[in-house]
Amino acid sequence: MANSKDVVVTGVSTGIGWGTTKVLVSKGFRVFGSVRKQADADRLQREFGNGFVPLLMDITDADAVHQAAQNVGSMIGDRNLVGLVNNAGIVVSGPLLYLRPSEYRRQLDVNMISPLVVIQAFAPLLGTDKKRQGPAGRIVNISSSIVSQKYLYNEAHRLYAASHYVGYL
Ligand SMILES: NC(=O)c1ccc[n+]([C@@H]2O[C@H](COP(=O)([O-])OP(=O)(O)OC[C@H]3O[C@@H](n4cnc5c(N)ncnc54)[C@H](OP(=O)(O)O)[C@@H]3O)[C@@H](O)[C@H]2O)c1
Repeated sequence: MANSKDVVVTGVSTGIGWGTTKVLVSKGFRVFGSVRKQADADRLQREFGNGFVPLLMDITDADAVHQAAQNVGSMIGDRNLVGLVNNAGIVVSGPLLYLRPSEYRRQLDVNMISPLVVIQAFAPLLGTDKKRQGPAGRIVNISSSIVSQKYLYNEAHRLYAASHYVGYL
């Protein structure tokens, strides 16, 4: 696929990431989509065909993210990615008094810190490596409209909103 338009999308097993992949593949993009389970990689490969390349990585594992970026770099030759969609995310909800602090920390890690790690790892493929050809790629951070809402249902929602504020950077 020498002339393909290449995009990286995180969290494509379900939901918005899956839908984004479906649209991009149907429009002729090659999507490098992150999944955490081999079964999802196999399912999506069958579903999307050659326009889809699974990346097995948990975005909270920085080594795995950098390894995935290296793999993508070697597959796209000397061209830049067209884009990176930081989509993978979680929501931790429930009564504040009964949720474990580790669950809130994990939400911050997945929704706030790890997307920045993903950006750092893929930046050379998006235009910071000047040896690469083509226009710089675009970064899309999937956030939540909850971030801009003044009145939230409960404290757990406030913490979810805080974790997704990075999408507004
Ligand atoms: N749906 C909504 O109404 C809505 C509204 C506002 C914002 N959002 C945001 O939009 C994004 C996608 O939401 P969605 O509704 O499509 O959710 P979803 O269907 O639950 O999909 C989330 C995706 O993220 C992946 N993921 C979770 N933790 C991960 C990790 N540590 N490393 C790598 N991948 C991980 C999941 O993979 P696994 O299958 O392996 O768990 C899954 O592919 C999230 O950031 C969410 O907060 C959603």
